[in-house]
Amino acid sequence: MDTSLELPGVARLMTGPGGLPRYEITTPLAQAQIFLHGAHVARFTPAGQAPLLFLSEKSWFDPAKPIRGGVPVIFPWFGPRQGHPDAPAHGFARLRSWTPESLVQEPDGAVVLTLRLEPDDASRALWGEPADWVLRHRITVAATLTMELEIENRGNAPLRCEEALHTYFHVGDVRQIAVHGLEGAEYYDKADGMRRKRQDGEPIRFTAETDRTYIDTAGACVIDDPALRRRILVEKENSSSTIVWNPWIAKARSMPDFGDDEWPGMVCVETGNVADNALEIAPGARHLTRTVLRTEPR
Ligand code: BG6
Repeated sequence: MDTSLELPGVARLMTGPGGLPRYEITTPLAQAQIFLHGAHVARFTPAGQAPLLFLSEKSWFDPAKPIRGGVPVIFPWFGPRQGHPDAPAHGFARLRSWTPESLVQEPDGAVVLTLRLEPDDASRALWGEPADWVLRHRITVAATLTMELEIENRGNAPLRCEEALHTYFHVGDVRQIAVHGLEGAEYYDKADGMRRKRQDGEPIRFTAETDRTYIDTAGACVIDDPALRRRILVEKENSSSTIVWNPWIAKARSMPDFGDDEWPGMVCVETGNVADNALEIAPGARHLTRTVLRTEPR
């Protein structure tokens, strides 16, 4: 483990569960844990608050499996890969060990960690495209959590892909929350045979399994959480899709890496570009998706 990129007393590279290396970041503003496996922000807790992110007690910590909770990085396809039933769900970026590229502390106390991923034989075998690319995931740990996923096309053909920051939020009780910001938007309802529907003029409330891909949704969302008496603001740039997911009872029971009783305590509101909003990045060009997560008292 290369520990040369550390900030004494602030950011240390430690061996986490399953032997997976992770950064542990502690500042007066927040605490965070970020695994190199998947460039995965597993925990983020602003000072004096409840954790912002949900992390399952049943999560695997295994180089061959994704971490359940936090913020999986999804690339280059979202969900199952069409026509390739054996391909890993949600792509391979969350299954790779990323390389630390830089770690700095800004004068305002924010810690910025950049992790990098490049193609290897395994990714070429899985994706099967003559693509040359670099991913950079830039994570800023401050009173807010900022994540910027940059895709650079280093090849000489357009790069077609999907990507998402699959954020699992910790909530007091999903049956009491409301998600604002997607009123009137169209979505594919994965819990109802991928039917295309339109959200009514009301915020989303949760009364059953909910698995929706909202398209053409570039604006911010707000998760209103009366039980934890806070609002979570999900701001974003260069993201046209928003995925909203809670597995509810039966699906929670079917997932080996998710506790049967954990579903009330989480909701995914994901920032991405998927389905109709899949990306096409020109040769030599870069695409940067940014999300900023902040809380405010309710
Ligand atoms: C969501 C999908 O984004 O991720 C769901 O919309 C899926 O359909 C969920 O079940 C979890 O996926 P995975 O591969 O991490 O179990």
